[in-house]
Amino acid sequence: MPTLRVFAPATISNVGPGFDVLGCALYRPGDTVEIEACDAPGVILGEVTGDGGALPLEPARNAATVAAAAVLQRAGTANSVRGLRLHLHKGMPLASGLGSSGASAAAGAVAANLILGQPLSPLDVVQCAIMGERAACGAAHADNVAPSVLGGFILIRSYDPLDVVRLPVPDGLFVACIHPHCEVSTAEARRRLVGRTASIADVVANTGNFGALVAALHQGDLGLLGRAIEDRIVEPVRAAMIPAYADVKRAALAAGALGCSISGSGPTVFAFTDAAVTAAAVARAMRATFRDRAALDSDVWVGPICRDGAHMVP
Ligand code: HSE
Repeated sequence: MPTLRVFAPATISNVGPGFDVLGCALYRPGDTVEIEACDAPGVILGEVTGDGGALPLEPARNAATVAAAAVLQRAGTANSVRGLRLHLHKGMPLASGLGSSGASAAAGAVAANLILGQPLSPLDVVQCAIMGERAACGAAHADNVAPSVLGGFILIRSYDPLDVVRLPVPDGLFVACIHPHCEVSTAEARRRLVGRTASIADVVANTGNFGALVAALHQGDLGLLGRAIEDRIVEPVRAAMIPAYADVKRAALAAGALGCSISGSGPTVFAFTDAAVTAAAVARAMRATFRDRAALDSDVWVGPICRDGAHMVP
């Protein structure tokens, strides 16, 4: 049986004031799924590597297999494939705020759709990937899986019905992502928001910033984009879960970042810049601050925003 390999990129979700509604794709890191058709019905999970044994091996609890099974089911009897076997290669840390389960779900859904001859539309594939995300982390947010499937900046206008909007990626935009070696559970980070209310002043500030952010992406105005990366509602609650966050953000801005915030539910922190060399300097400053103020080592990724989503690789 032929085997397909699909790479799905890590993502920044909750971009600035875009909690649960705005994400973007990175070039690296990411997850890879290998998939082949098989005679047994359903989806079999073969090997999982790169996770240090942390991920569940039951297909019903793994983001990639749940997403692939959703594709198989939606494709229905129109295809001749009865079952799928997949192997998942984790290429990024778990519970990092880089959309780890989202990338696995995206890779599983896109790989299944490709091997079945692409019976589903891109929006249907995103919906199947959301099911994988929910199985892995308990919440059906789409701001990781949608950009991982589709690439670029993706706005989730509505969850029910699902309505996603592609926003432009401005030329000259670079991002520095830093992952300190500690974990934040997305489920716990979401629990901290339950029952919270926001003041009208904070809603007004976030609405202004979100509108400006969308305008900045359309106009290619990187200065405005940086000013709009300010969240007065969710970031202050979650900042407390990341050691030395305020110092790291201050260091990023002092090193030339246009804007800086938490990636997903953290602990990864991202910063936008208008040059590759500045992004590298910002990453160095953030890494030094995590080390000096919180005694944490970190991994960094620096580069442009990835305009392509999950795709076949050799
Ligand atoms: N939008 C989600 C959240 C992303 O912040 O809970 C989790 O990575």
